[in-house]
Amino acid sequence: MRKKVTVIGAGFVGSTCAHWIASKELADVVLLDIAEGIPQGKGLDLLEAGPIEGFDLSITGTNSYEETSNSDVVILTSGAPRKPGMTREDLVAINAEITAGNIEKVAATSPNAIIIIVNNPMDTMAYLAYKVAAKAGFPKNRVIGQGGILDAGRYRTFIALEAGVSVEDVQAMLMGGHGDEMVPLPRYTTISGIPVTEFITEDRLNEIVERTKKGGGEIVALLKTGSAYYAPAAATVQMVEAILKDKKRVLPCAAYLEGEYGLSDLYFGVPVLLGAGGVEKIIELPLTDAEKEMAARSAALVKSSIAALPEKYKDL
Ligand code: LAC
Repeated sequence: MRKKVTVIGAGFVGSTCAHWIASKELADVVLLDIAEGIPQGKGLDLLEAGPIEGFDLSITGTNSYEETSNSDVVILTSGAPRKPGMTREDLVAINAEITAGNIEKVAATSPNAIIIIVNNPMDTMAYLAYKVAAKAGFPKNRVIGQGGILDAGRYRTFIALEAGVSVEDVQAMLMGGHGDEMVPLPRYTTISGIPVTEFITEDRLNEIVERTKKGGGEIVALLKTGSAYYAPAAATVQMVEAILKDKKRVLPCAAYLEGEYGLSDLYFGVPVLLGAGGVEKIIELPLTDAEKEMAARSAALVKSSIAALPEKYKDL
């Protein structure tokens, strides 16, 4: 049986996810949006690329949840993006409505799906999505937030540029909320297994860390009318591939914590084992005191964003 992935939101992130799922021939794709004609048009356009690019999948666009039923993976991208000067937190109220409304429908139509949350503020939206989905019986391992792979992608790009090496050889792990207080872990950053500090001075590395933290804002400031989508979609599709192919990848993803890293009742970026079961394991790395402090600061920010959710979502 072919796998089925639903992408909610046919904007730039959603349609780019569909594009990469198709080009990697991972699964049939259903693109869903409230705008009439847009998901249908983009779906048909992508389908027509199949004979040229050599992928053979069912790709459809719809405004109705019926066509998404029994998806293996559902990606939620819909929501307002940031404008220049806005933080991800400025989007809480508007995107909470969109997230809760859609996840209720996902839970009813695709009860066995693994849900990937991409909309911002991602950690808070993943938390809300989990609380809504849990009411319909979803376990925490089947609701995952995408953020860490994107942040690590930016970090790896900047390191490769600085060191003059291939991005393929840069491995990095980072933690924390998908925000400007993310927690890079230079100790766990290598170039083909060689500590990154053999290639880059500590000062330059600190500058790269700072640029990474503000990486999303850098793109928003350039685009002016929206936020990044190529790298966010690539990160999301890497998660889809790990799940559908049960690859047991070790990747930074936002997972629901219940005591790991001394944190509870929030979504937070941590290294996870990602496979057919979704988050199959949370990997607990030993952290230095300084790293623990950064993680605590980042967690406090995520908690305050969760506290800013509209009243009606507070005791789910
Ligand atoms: C980013 C936004 C989309 O990091 O969260 O680009």
